[in-house]
Amino acid sequence: MTTKEFIIKVLLKNKNEYISGEKISKELGISRAAISKSVKELKKEGYDIHSITNRGYSLMNEIDVLSKEEIYSKLLIPMDVEILNSVDSTNAYCKRLIPNQKNINRIVVSNTQTKGKGRKERNFFSPPNTGIYMSLLLNSQIKVENSLKITLAVSVAICRVLEKLTDKKPKIKWVNDIFLGDKKIAGILTEASSSFESGIIENLIIGIGINFSTEFFPEDLTNIADSIFSKKEKKTSRNELIVELTNEIVYLLNNIEEKYIIEEYIQKSIVIGKNIIVHYYDKTENAKVLGIDENGFLQILTKNGENKTLSSGEISIRPVGDETWN
Ligand code: BTN
Repeated sequence: MTTKEFIIKVLLKNKNEYISGEKISKELGISRAAISKSVKELKKEGYDIHSITNRGYSLMNEIDVLSKEEIYSKLLIPMDVEILNSVDSTNAYCKRLIPNQKNINRIVVSNTQTKGKGRKERNFFSPPNTGIYMSLLLNSQIKVENSLKITLAVSVAICRVLEKLTDKKPKIKWVNDIFLGDKKIAGILTEASSSFESGIIENLIIGIGINFSTEFFPEDLTNIADSIFSKKEKKTSRNELIVELTNEIVYLLNNIEEKYIIEEYIQKSIVIGKNIIVHYYDKTENAKVLGIDENGFLQILTKNGENKTLSSGEISIRPVGDETWN
C-alpha cells in the first residue's frame, strides 16, 4: 500500500475526527514531512482534507474524485486498481494488458472514454465526470459453459448494489441492460479468452457502463437512456459504487453455479410476458416472452406459433398498444 493509500484508509476509518501527522507517521514508519507531502498531493487530486496545527488531518466531504486509494482500501479482496482520466475503451485497454498480465486481478476505471463499446459494435456514450466506465480483468476459473451466467450475475450485482446504496428499484432487460422505469441506465459488455483444452475462461473482461449523473444525452438517446441520479439528488459517490459493485461481482462469480442468481435475475426481469421484437442479423420477428430458463435462455413464442429458446441476441420491448402481434 502506498503512503497516500494508507493516509486515505486511516482518514476514512476516522471520519469527522482529526488524526495527528505524528500518529500516521509512527504507524507507517516514515517522517512527518513525507506525510505532509502526500497530504498535499491528495488535496491536489481533489480530496477535501483539513489540517489543523497540533490536531492533525481530517477528511471532510468525500468529493466525487475517482480515487485509487479509496477504492483499493475498501476492496474485500486485493486487486490492482488503475484510474485513467481518458481512454478509448476500458475493455480495449484491458485486452491490451492481457499479454503482460500476471496472476493478478485488476480494476480499470476511466473518467471518460473516447470509444466506449457497447454490444453489437455500438457506441457507449461516456461523457466525463458523470458516469462509471469500468472493466474488471480477472483470472477466472469459470467454465466456458457458464459464460452467459457471468452476465446474469453481473446484472444481479448491479441491481443489488443500487438497491443497497440508493432508494431506486432497478430492473433487468434480457440480457444485459439495467433499467430504471422504461429507460436504460447501465449496460454490461463481457469479453473472454478461454483455453480450448481446459474449457476454462482464463482471461475475463467484465465491462460495465453506468450513467451515474449524466444530465444531457445525444438526441438519439434522450428517449431511451437515463441516469441513476438527477442533478438535485443526494448521490452516493462513484468510488463507493465501484467498490460495492466489485465486491458483489467477485462474491457472485465465486458462487456462479448457485441457483439463487438466476432466480433473482428472473425476479428482476422486465421482459417476461411482454410482446417483443427479436432482432436477428438481417431480420426481425415479433414474439412474446414466455419465460427465462435455468440457464438464462429466453423462451419465446413467435407470432407464427413456434416455441424458440434464445441463448443470445437482441430484443426490444414493443410498446403497450402496439397491436402488430395479432
Ligand atoms: C451495452 O450496453 O451494450 C454494453 C455497454 C458496456 C459499456 C462499458 S463502459 C466500460 C467498458 N468499456 C467499454 O468500452 N465498454 C464497457
